[in-house]
Amino acid sequence: MEVKKENKGKYDKRNKLNDLTGKEWLKLTASFWMSEKCADDRDAYNHPAPFLVKDIRKLISMFTKKEMRVLDPFCGSGTTLLASSILNRYGIGIDLNSEYRDLAIERLSKKEFQEFNDYEYFLGDSNDVLENLNNIDYVVTSPPYHNILKNKGSGIRKKNKKGFRNGSRIGVDYYSDLPNDLGNKESYDDFLQSFQLIMSKCFNALNNKKYCSIVISDFTVDKKEICVQGDIVRLMQEIGFEFVGTIALLQNNKPLYPFGYPYAYKINHHHQNIINFRKVIEE
Ligand SMILES: C[S@@+](CC[C@H](N)C(=O)[O-])C[C@H]1O[C@@H](n2cnc3c(N)ncnc32)[C@H](O)[C@@H]1O
Repeated sequence: MEVKKENKGKYDKRNKLNDLTGKEWLKLTASFWMSEKCADDRDAYNHPAPFLVKDIRKLISMFTKKEMRVLDPFCGSGTTLLASSILNRYGIGIDLNSEYRDLAIERLSKKEFQEFNDYEYFLGDSNDVLENLNNIDYVVTSPPYHNILKNKGSGIRKKNKKGFRNGSRIGVDYYSDLPNDLGNKESYDDFLQSFQLIMSKCFNALNNKKYCSIVISDFTVDKKEICVQGDIVRLMQEIGFEFVGTIALLQNNKPLYPFGYPYAYKINHHHQNIINFRKVIEE
């Protein structure tokens, strides 16, 4: 029987951004993606808010070529490092919490990836570590969502028969008690300012014409809905980044809560925004 070969399309030699064919590139320009789970996500379960590996693989494939250097200044369970290593990129991660560094190294070792050969993971405040980093080709990250894990008292997920990461959240599990943890900032404005400082150091470390993606959803502060996306775009533009578009990352397997019912409309956040930026400076 004749086996039909999948037509992956043609690679254009002028492509300086990534290793994709035109057909693969086009697919990833859609303004929404379905978030996709895979077996490699399971090992990150002990972190309150990890990325899913497949989602980050797609971003890294879009914004880098093989051997390029990918930075995550809020690296947590090391998903960015794992996705980078799988795709033959060199991942550089930073996080304040030593438990998350240990978790990430265990995850990466399981796949036989080795520190300093395939990736690096710095333990510390990104504010300090970033002073000594440069020559970065892509930044992909997700900061703490201000103090929502503490506020909602709801970091830990209930184990659910339907599958991991489908359960609702129960119990408190936030990142740390460290004052420089962005999840512990007193006010939303303090959070935005601290985040802006770290992202300005990422801007300095990033090579010209390269990209940066921030994954974050809108959330509530003092029970009021905040357009977090708008605030992030403004603070990144103040740094000098060019806004290049948002991808809605749909998470349609989360439970729906009747927050305001039957008195007022309250939204269920069932997507993350992947907010994309580019550094373009005149040379
Ligand atoms: C949303 S989580 C990132 C999860 C990560 N994307 C993953 O896949 O596991 C945010 C992380 O930022 C870290 N963090 C908070 N403030 C930090 C700071 N000033 N410097 C470095 N890391 C920080 C927290 O410890 C937490 O792991």
